Amino acid sequence: MSCQNIVLIGFMGSGKSSIGRLLSKKLGFQFVDTDRVIIERAGMEISDIFAQHGEDYFRDLESTTLASLAHLRRCIIATGGGVVLREANRALLSGLGFVVGLAADEEVIFERVSRNAKRPLLQTENPRETVRRILNERLNLYEAAAQFTVDTSQLTYEQIAEIIINEVRRAFQWQSAP
Ligand code: S3P
Repeated sequence: MSCQNIVLIGFMGSGKSSIGRLLSKKLGFQFVDTDRVIIERAGMEISDIFAQHGEDYFRDLESTTLASLAHLRRCIIATGGGVVLREANRALLSGLGFVVGLAADEEVIFERVSRNAKRPLLQTENPRETVRRILNERLNLYEAAAQFTVDTSQLTYEQIAEIIINEVRRAFQWQSAP
């Protein structure tokens, strides 16, 4: 296990991007969001990639993007919620750094994702049911891929960031600023 980077995984709405930005500020690490990298490389929004090319094409871009980050050091890497679906991605994740899972109760997730209507997988007749189904399909994958998991349901971003920093310091014997 290495800690050249901190990698955040978790369901849509688990707070990966917001917590990732906060961690990057606190630790002086660069922030990288795989969805943003995909958008820049493809030259279009995630929702347009899904609409025009389909989910498999997006998953291929996601895998290629993840593999292309192997050289990064001292970065906080936020990933898309479906990154754990492919076994090859799961292997890449642990090679990238310390993998932190962000968990949240289903109700909390639904409340958070409802504030943003852009997520292609949730454009269904019953998004609540879709969240429940996908979350249940993925729970074991998040659990298995993360070296450390924080339940974010009742915590502020500030508290979550501190918990993660303490864990990384403990696991890697970081003294002061890494
Ligand atoms: C997805 C999550 C999204 C984005 C895409 C697919 C998923 O990222 O990668 O819409 O399969 O859960 P966020 O988790 O940042 O919303």
